[in-house]
Amino acid sequence: MCGIVGYTGLDTAKDVLITGLKRLEYRGYDSAGVALERAEGDGCVVDIVRRVGKVAGLESELAQRDDASTCGIGHTRWATHGVPSVANAHPHASCDGRIAVVHNGIIENFAELRADLEARGHVFSSQTDTEVFAHLIEEAYATTHDLAAAVRAACAHVVGAYGLAAVCADEPGVIMVARKDSPIVVGRGERGSYVASDVIALIDATRDVVVLEDGQFARLAPEGIEYTDAEGRLIEPAVTHIDWDIDMAEKGGYPDFMLKEIYEQPRVVRDTLVGRLAPNGELDIDELGLSFEELNVIDRIYVIACGTSYHAGLIAKNLIESWARIPCEVEAASEFRYRDPIITPSTLVVAVSQSGETADTLAAIRDARIKGAKVFGITNVIGSPVARESDGVIYTKANKEIAVASTKSFIGQIVSLTLLALLLGQAKGRLTTGQVRMLFHELGDTSAQIQRIFDTQLDAIHEAACACQGAQSALFVGRGMGAAISYEGALKLKEVSYLHAEAYAAGEMKHGPIALIEPGFPVIAVTTKSPTYDKVVSNLKECEARGARIIALATEGDEDIRRIADHVIYIPPVRDAFSAITASVPLQLLAREVALMRGCNVDQPRNLAKSVTVE
Ligand code: AGP
Repeated sequence: MCGIVGYTGLDTAKDVLITGLKRLEYRGYDSAGVALERAEGDGCVVDIVRRVGKVAGLESELAQRDDASTCGIGHTRWATHGVPSVANAHPHASCDGRIAVVHNGIIENFAELRADLEARGHVFSSQTDTEVFAHLIEEAYATTHDLAAAVRAACAHVVGAYGLAAVCADEPGVIMVARKDSPIVVGRGERGSYVASDVIALIDATRDVVVLEDGQFARLAPEGIEYTDAEGRLIEPAVTHIDWDIDMAEKGGYPDFMLKEIYEQPRVVRDTLVGRLAPNGELDIDELGLSFEELNVIDRIYVIACGTSYHAGLIAKNLIESWARIPCEVEAASEFRYRDPIITPSTLVVAVSQSGETADTLAAIRDARIKGAKVFGITNVIGSPVARESDGVIYTKANKEIAVASTKSFIGQIVSLTLLALLLGQAKGRLTTGQVRMLFHELGDTSAQIQRIFDTQLDAIHEAACACQGAQSALFVGRGMGAAISYEGALKLKEVSYLHAEAYAAGEMKHGPIALIEPGFPVIAVTTKSPTYDKVVSNLKECEARGARIIALATEGDEDIRRIADHVIYIPPVRDAFSAITASVPLQLLAREVALMRGCNVDQPRNLAKSVTVE
């Protein structure tokens, strides 16, 4: 949530900051702002420019200013404390305007800190929690006259999460950076020193970056970067080399990121599976760090996740219980941590998170570990908090996902969770090596099957989208895997098109939701060939009888379904266990088409942010 950039060096800072902010805009887009240092007389001042709305507005404003500053910080915001407004936009300044800060995260004790600061005469100009940082640093600077020491002192008062960058007019060219529970990446390029909350904003300048650990600080100057711990002692953090290309994070000729990312899914399946099957036919997921014997004692699994990642968990539950016969519960991370789940040393918690920084999921991981569970992370971001705080991790190999709606990372999650289910099945002696090998190859085949959907079903998807476009609401139904697929289909449709959608296990329709059906009401049904196919068809007949407009996702060759469906989207024949991988793809395309027909921005839906780092 929110994005931070900072630069000090030889180039014009506003250009570097705008380029970085545009790359980070997917993280939040309520407002954007920069603080730029400018020489004045013998000294320096800090100019703050902020705009409500997207980075483009800020860019136009800055284009009119003749600003040659070579040091500044910037921010794109997703509102948490305070409405989206200029006053609440970052950067925030101290009373004297000589210190400016940008911040990601939440300051839990901000009300108390603010009251204390106000009592000591500080005047606040926003409703944000961030502003306390500016005033705390101002107070500490008055005695230390050292920005690094002042930032460390301010952080010592703060309870909560922060990725922070600060500048001070009395120390021109210096940016001080701090991190606790909110990502901060720092890098040194040929033209200066860079900081961002996501590596994507500084990858043009350098591929060797330092991902700050909690409690670490960095002092950026044009000529170099100094790293310290909370006591100010110099440290030498590890350097991470980024090997993916910026092209992978740009649109590459597609009209929007969502479409580009949907089309990347055949590759994601392949990449997630590369090197996973050893020549002896056994799965190779060494990074999980548990032997077959240790896996064999696992007797209970919780999958914890949020949103789309939660839906990947629902799919995993079916596979784990079927192949490994281990009871598996899927829980919203935000619920898991507030109840008292039964956890023993033989409990495995699988935390699924694209970003690897979702606050609820992280909090649930910490809770589970304290209670003694082993935690495996499934994430898309190397070195993310979920990866670092788990005992083992599987990376989903989706590469950077920019569109706020998860698509390719969802497919990467399902493939990774399928691998985990196969591994557990093998460890429990429920699947033979031969069976695992066969299932692994079938899993790999879904890559070509997704491609076949792109090649043959676009017209059918378009027709189905036209049928939904003018609706007030839509219902997604299915059974078993089909129900899990439906939940994700409904989420995708509502998040990008703002069309209300609900998903139900098809058998539940008659217990209430069927009351919604009236002539023309769109019902999107997952009717791929599965053990419950006939039951789903019966449920659809009940909808048909009440005038619903039925859009069916059916298996290629199923002509019978046309008797009740108004529109049919065909999926290549695939084992039910893998149907989520193929059937989810047309639902993503459907959601996008409906959204475009309704004039929505599919990459940046309103009110949402890519990483949800608040609870
Ligand atoms: C997906 O389209 C959503 N934007 C959202 O539900 C997302 O899946 C959720 O916030 C969890 O994020 P994570 O995978 O990064 O933890």
